[in-house]
Amino acid sequence: VDESTPPQTLKDRSLTSVAELIKNGGARRIVVITGAGLSTAAGIPDFRSPKTGLYHNLARLNLPYAECVFDISYFRENPLPFYMLAKELYPGKFSPTISHVFIALLANKGLLRMLFTQNIDCLERVAGVPGHRIVEAHGSFATQRCIDCMTEFPDKEMREHIERGAPALCVRPECRGLVKPDIVFFGEQLPSAFFENRSAPASADLLLVLGTSLSVQPFASLSIMAAEGVPRVLFNKEKVGDVGSRADDVLCLGDCDSGVRKLADELGWRDELEQMWRDL
Ligand code: APR
Repeated sequence: VDESTPPQTLKDRSLTSVAELIKNGGARRIVVITGAGLSTAAGIPDFRSPKTGLYHNLARLNLPYAECVFDISYFRENPLPFYMLAKELYPGKFSPTISHVFIALLANKGLLRMLFTQNIDCLERVAGVPGHRIVEAHGSFATQRCIDCMTEFPDKEMREHIERGAPALCVRPECRGLVKPDIVFFGEQLPSAFFENRSAPASADLLLVLGTSLSVQPFASLSIMAAEGVPRVLFNKEKVGDVGSRADDVLCLGDCDSGVRKLADELGWRDELEQMWRDL
């Protein structure tokens, strides 16, 4: 299907017609955009959900305001709160959810054009989404470096420092700057991969939005870059952004794992999906 094919519209605004579109080959360049809501079922709190969200539970770090745990200028002054939080969030003790596996299944079927994630937990990779189909727009814990001279810091030693809650310092004796995982902090640029792939939603023939409040730019703008007439499906506990305002938008409100399972049922992929998840 070449990129000039006009988008096929949905019969009606239901997961049944989204499944129809996929089954009849009308969606082969699917762009998926995700946030922390995708990983809450894995045990990783999101940021803004009332009561459970991280930003409501950082009182123990007595920060001037919640977001500054991810603020680069605050980190320079006081890296301890981030290192304490990093210990709770560090990859290794969490497993992908059925929603992560659904995205990997789309990739296996050659239907995933690109996944843009805001998450730093690397669970998309663990679920089997190929690296070249993932844009980790807010970075991840996978690598780390000195924030002054950008020299990389060894993974093993970083894990030890995070375990101890002790900020790591640059390996270069003449520098000794603070070391930070390659997570995009407020005040930092997004990785170039985000800007290089930013046009992908414009050529998508289906957009799936899962588990994000669409409250942080420039990431949130991805959702409005889908062309008119291209269906946008929201799997989220609440309505967010402008999804729902276009004629072909489909709102699947509730927890994303149930929504994804419902779509898998409509597609006839449910057994394959559950088996893939069990085989992880
Ligand atoms: N199923 C569906 N939706 C869920 C679930 C779930 N199991 N759990 C939470 N949600 C929804 C919440 O209702 C909320 O709308 O997911 C959304 C999570 O929003 P945020 O907590 O704001 O997380 P996110 O959108 O990823 O935050 C964006 O903010 O702090 C920065 O850089 C950080 O990447 C993060 C960015």
